[in-house]
Amino acid sequence: MKPVNVGIVGLGTVGSGTFNVLTRNAEDITRRAGREIQVTHVGARRDNPAADTSAIKVSRDVADVIADADVDVVVELIGGTTLAKELVLGAIANGKHVVTANKALIAVHGDEIFTAAQKKGVNVAFEAAVAGGIPIIKAIREGLSANRIEWVAGIINGTGNFILTEMKDKGRDFNDVLAEAQALGYAEADPTFDVEGIDAAHKLTILASIAFGIPLQFDKAYTEGISKVTPEDVRYAEELGYRIKHLGITRQTDAGVELRVHPTLVHESRLIANVNGVMNAVMAMSDAVGPTLYYGPGAGAEPTASSVVADIVDVARALTTDPDNRVPHLAFCADQLSDTPILPIDQIETAYYLRLTAKDTPGVMAKIATILSESEINIESLLQKEAEVDDGEVPIIMITRQVKEYQMNAALKKLESQDDVVGTVTRIRLEQLDG
Ligand code: HSE
Repeated sequence: MKPVNVGIVGLGTVGSGTFNVLTRNAEDITRRAGREIQVTHVGARRDNPAADTSAIKVSRDVADVIADADVDVVVELIGGTTLAKELVLGAIANGKHVVTANKALIAVHGDEIFTAAQKKGVNVAFEAAVAGGIPIIKAIREGLSANRIEWVAGIINGTGNFILTEMKDKGRDFNDVLAEAQALGYAEADPTFDVEGIDAAHKLTILASIAFGIPLQFDKAYTEGISKVTPEDVRYAEELGYRIKHLGITRQTDAGVELRVHPTLVHESRLIANVNGVMNAVMAMSDAVGPTLYYGPGAGAEPTASSVVADIVDVARALTTDPDNRVPHLAFCADQLSDTPILPIDQIETAYYLRLTAKDTPGVMAKIATILSESEINIESLLQKEAEVDDGEVPIIMITRQVKEYQMNAALKKLESQDDVVGTVTRIRLEQLDG
């Protein structure tokens, strides 16, 4: 059978990793795909010493790859949403299958891209877009297709998890760890995407669509980063038996779909609380199988290439099947997507960690408890610490039971207006993740 010709656009960290894995494991990959897969054309503005492309055609104008009649599959690894979108739509228009690791592109323009691909009868595969080397798209889209999925929660940004872990375990400086993540090729071109949760929100948007059969709605995701997590919150959380993780959470409720990324307290006994460094983990709660957990490296050259190459193998296999009978891009058939609304953040329900500074006066605790109880907020545990400096102020740390976010917002407003409460109240959401 004729080999499948692959054109790689972008020869950065993931591009060079993909080239190297395809070359190194060519024999096994051929045995799996049923036909040879060969890279015949690379589009890159400059060479990358990490990949020896001397034996194949290299174009400085990346559009040449899309126009190359011999290329069957275009692998888009340049990132961003402008040129990448143009190239992907161009490749589809030219009847080529597309594999991409570009989460921003899929989260923001995926619906348009999939519609174009459907019309042309070509595949757009994006396993590497979510959680790097973990085959999570395949697991949810195919492995869990018997189930009603209730929620999906995960650590889906390797850079952010790497930063939180290094800060907690080694007391390292935020910017120093971020610079290392950049040097290792984990971070986005704009690292605020990592630390402010935008990258995780792109990935969560994709997970929500394949879990619940809804269109991609990145603009409705709630996003809160890790830059405001303080070492004292990390310490207090630990004293209460929790770890602070930057989670993406999407949950199907009767009212709509929760879609949120924020720092979250997770009990230390949960496996996901012990996922450290650049590792990612995604947990799915489904009605038939119950909880399942997927763990692996969330970023890096070859882990991400592992997912890219798996998609290329899938495309090679699909080349001989009827386009209408392939696995749908977003798990559910394109005409079967539901219009379940995405909930605004004040409608979500969760437990909370609260930290406030109160004046050390008699009755202050009762006042705080009254405000919370009037707002129907139950306190699960409470820690009153001794003042670190003798300034008449004490830190109070609480963990609450589940409550709607708007009720918590109202209670926090009342608390912050009290003369006995100093400054603002720190609030971090807390998830039991026990179904
Ligand atoms: N910047 C991303 C991360 C790369 O750190 O997870 C993988 O998507």
